[in-house]
Amino acid sequence: MDASEFSAEAIPSELSGETILITGGAGFIGSHIADAVAPDNTVRILDDFSTGSRENVPDDAEVVEGDVRDGEVLDEAMAGVDLVFHEAAVVSVQRSTEQPALSHEVNVEATIQLLERAREEDARVVAASSSAIYGEPESVPIPETAPKTPSSPYGLDKLSLDHYLRLYHDLYDLDTVALRYFNVYGPRQTAGDYSGVISIFRQQATDGEPLTVDGDGTQTRDFVHVSDVVQANLLAATTDRVGEAFNVGTGSSISIRELAETIREVADSESEIVHTDPRPGDVEESCPNVSKASDQLGYSPTTTLAAGLESLFAE
Ligand code: NAD
Ligand code: UD1
Repeated sequence: MDASEFSAEAIPSELSGETILITGGAGFIGSHIADAVAPDNTVRILDDFSTGSRENVPDDAEVVEGDVRDGEVLDEAMAGVDLVFHEAAVVSVQRSTEQPALSHEVNVEATIQLLERAREEDARVVAASSSAIYGEPESVPIPETAPKTPSSPYGLDKLSLDHYLRLYHDLYDLDTVALRYFNVYGPRQTAGDYSGVISIFRQQATDGEPLTVDGDGTQTRDFVHVSDVVQANLLAATTDRVGEAFNVGTGSSISIRELAETIREVADSESEIVHTDPRPGDVEESCPNVSKASDQLGYSPTTTLAAGLESLFAE
């Protein structure tokens, strides 16, 4: 699909007639998943609206407002569900280095509580893991079997989440799938101190402010459009490859300096590019091998970074 025609509702899915909970469903990725499944399913969203927004929630979705760490909130949200897309999290690597205990509570402890309730309901859980679990890779592209030495509390917590999903499958026969997203971008990603770099550069370029590259900008990332991440989630919701984890990216990376230059061009902006101190815990190289998702899920990323950026700046 061309990103300029992106509509999550247009992504094919075999899901219908299910009761689906999306934690973090008012956020960037969760709300696009909600749009994709809302027409044919009963959709419930659990969100505390800390970074998510009500405007993102599909009109006919039920909303449980609360914290994913709150057992009573989880009881209400999980009652009668067939399937969970678990997206709620402390999403910022940088924030996790400042507040590691918070990251652990939200990203790990709440996930265990959710998995316990999924056992009671016999509900499938598809959860957002992260490329951050790999830490600094020995080489790229990174296969799922690569060593995992996370360099941030966030990465460590997502690695725990990833293992808990596998364990709940192996120990309790629960249908679980962990999706290791690389760097996701697209419509509804908001710019803020803890936001994804494309949303920050976009805001800076549009406002004519300097684009702030952390460190020397040689660090690389694989930027995957949110439509492709939705595609991976829909495939994970029906696959028989449960108890597994899959990389979700495009398989090609770009340096942050080059990204800044590209965004300046696409935005037709005069903004200068400035370099600030490097970030603690920042990984230098990141690029996935996505052949496991391609072979086993039928995943096929369709949006190039160039097309995705063009459509974002045309909004
Ligand atoms: P987001 O901040 O837009 O979405 C997270 C949502 O969770 C928000 O709506 C927020 O209000 C909600 N939330 C946060 N803490 C909560 C809590 N304690 N209780 C209830 N709701 C809470 O971020 P996103 O980019 O859409 O991320 C979605 C998931 O994908 C996260 O698990 C994140 O770690 C993961 N992920 C994101 C990326 C990326 O590049 N954006 C990459 C890898 C993994
Ligand atoms: C992001 C996600 C994280 C996810 C991970 C997967 C967010 C906020 N974080 O983390 O949830 O698990 O991808 O790879 O969505 N940078 C700048 N200038 C800025 C902001 C960032 O140079 O103003 C640099 C950072 O130092 C980093 C790169 O851009 O090298 C990407 O940063 P960021 O978008 O925060 O993503 P990750 O830390 O990779």
